[in-house]
Amino acid sequence: MGKATFHFPRGFLWGTATSSHQVEGGCTNNNWYAWEQEQGRIIQGQKSGLACDWWGGRWREDLDRAAEAGQNAHRMSIEWSRIQPEPDRWDEHAIDRYRDILRRMFERNMTPLVTLHHFSDPIWIYEKGGWENPDTIVAFESFVRKVVEAFKEYASIWCTINEPNVYAVLGYTMGDFPPGKKDIKTTLNVLTNQIKGHAAAYRAIHAIQPRARVGPVIQYRGIAPKHGWFPLDSIVASLQSHMFNNLFPYAIRDGKVSFPVNLRLPEAKGTMDFLGINYYTKEYASFSLKNSSELFARRSYREGVEISDNGMIAVEPEGMFEALKWGLQFKVPLIVTENGIETQEDGLRRRYMVQHIHQVWRAVNFNWPVKGFFWWTLVDNFEWERGWTQRFGLWELDPESQVRRKRPSADLYAEIVRENGLSYEMVEKYAPEVIEKLFP
Ligand code: BGC
Repeated sequence: MGKATFHFPRGFLWGTATSSHQVEGGCTNNNWYAWEQEQGRIIQGQKSGLACDWWGGRWREDLDRAAEAGQNAHRMSIEWSRIQPEPDRWDEHAIDRYRDILRRMFERNMTPLVTLHHFSDPIWIYEKGGWENPDTIVAFESFVRKVVEAFKEYASIWCTINEPNVYAVLGYTMGDFPPGKKDIKTTLNVLTNQIKGHAAAYRAIHAIQPRARVGPVIQYRGIAPKHGWFPLDSIVASLQSHMFNNLFPYAIRDGKVSFPVNLRLPEAKGTMDFLGINYYTKEYASFSLKNSSELFARRSYREGVEISDNGMIAVEPEGMFEALKWGLQFKVPLIVTENGIETQEDGLRRRYMVQHIHQVWRAVNFNWPVKGFFWWTLVDNFEWERGWTQRFGLWELDPESQVRRKRPSADLYAEIVRENGLSYEMVEKYAPEVIEKLFP
């Protein structure tokens, strides 16, 4: 192939994604702070601490750098526990702080995508049972009203809940996230309440801001049969994929779920103006009688595939294309709200980046309605139960000294967003190992 450039449509959104608890620091009033204080919950007992010190003001330099690198959008989240530190108190100072951030983005021509719930809950919500308690739906709706009223001048694309599938499974089936439960029934109850919370937020936002675009963010995990010829592998793979990927978006598209539970949620029907898809990796499932707790599936990566430093992510770029193809069934615009890899080896990050953006381009070329791409993440951040052991940033961070150092992948991403495309020269310069794959 010649020295082509994979161009993206004019107006395509290019940015990075962040979340409040992971970057702000000093988030001491939520369930994650409580979780960090408990022994054995976070790897090596690490704490979010100052995180990237955004609450101390460093959001400005980080976002300015993102803008200077050509990014025309940014996905951030609003910390519920800051806006509403107690059930009957709104913190106007916190609101002002977020307004400053959004205003700055506006001044720098960056379109904000604002996430209203990204894993963390105020401690007072947590103590009352979190999303197990249906009262949380009403509380979330009132928080959302407050936020949208406050920021409607600057933001109109709202992500209601980030990865309800991950939140429910890690917190209530695997026990890795707070509250550390392992119970399928509770998992489904939490998911149901989040579906209702999403629907309530959707209506509340549209009542305040009719032109708003509101959608959920789902982590799509590719789960394919390990042996395509073996029917039981295909069955367990599609079962796992259905449970993890489909439940939430089906519920808000159709207002019901028929399997594995029968749920009627008419209020949720049609509450999706766009779908945010987070894609990181793909796994293969094989039938195993031993794994009854995991629906009789043993999951593994493809043999010989390149894997991230801590084994969290296998490099499966075609899974990105498959994720977008899956997203088409919802007949709404799609946004890649997260994609990235944990590694200290920046070469791997660059190979991952060009291959995944290439797959997004393939989808765009079929005229699929993909409207934007958000890299996870801008600066190394606090990675939940994996603490500081996972480095996803375009910028490296020393959390002690708060010193940032630019990685070459930041330059690569800047070239891509400035060009609004990925060129042969960029791949040759930053990720020559995969040039043959992208330009055969
Ligand atoms: C989450 C992020 C997280 C990232 C990388 C996603 O599941 O939305 O908060 O840091 O994956 O692990």
